[in-house]
Amino acid sequence: THVVTENCIKCKYTDCVDVCPVDCFKEGPNFLIIDPEECIDCAVCVPECPAEAIFAEEDVPPDQQHFIEINAELCASDNYKTITKRKAPLPDADEWNGKPDKLQYLER
Ligand code: F3S
Repeated sequence: THVVTENCIKCKYTDCVDVCPVDCFKEGPNFLIIDPEECIDCAVCVPECPAEAIFAEEDVPPDQQHFIEINAELCASDNYKTITKRKAPLPDADEWNGKPDKLQYLER
């Protein structure tokens, strides 16, 4: 599977969903996740993300490993719904892009 990591939080650019051939993204209040059961590892979303937040599971950086579990966990949350069309990013996305320690702001 592929995994959405910390830099998506508070950005949510959503360029990724437009290119997904299997509609495996789910949207929460300020983050997206990939459904690990649906993702076919095509990797087309990886270069589309302006926040460079998406990695193949085997390429997730050491400091982002916990996001493998977070994607799986939030996939089962009622607050996360399938998203198939790009929408406007969060208002301050460009300001938050690249900021460290955003996990504390994740809305589950
Ligand atoms: Fe998030 Fe990047 Fe998609 S910021 S919504 S993973 S394009």
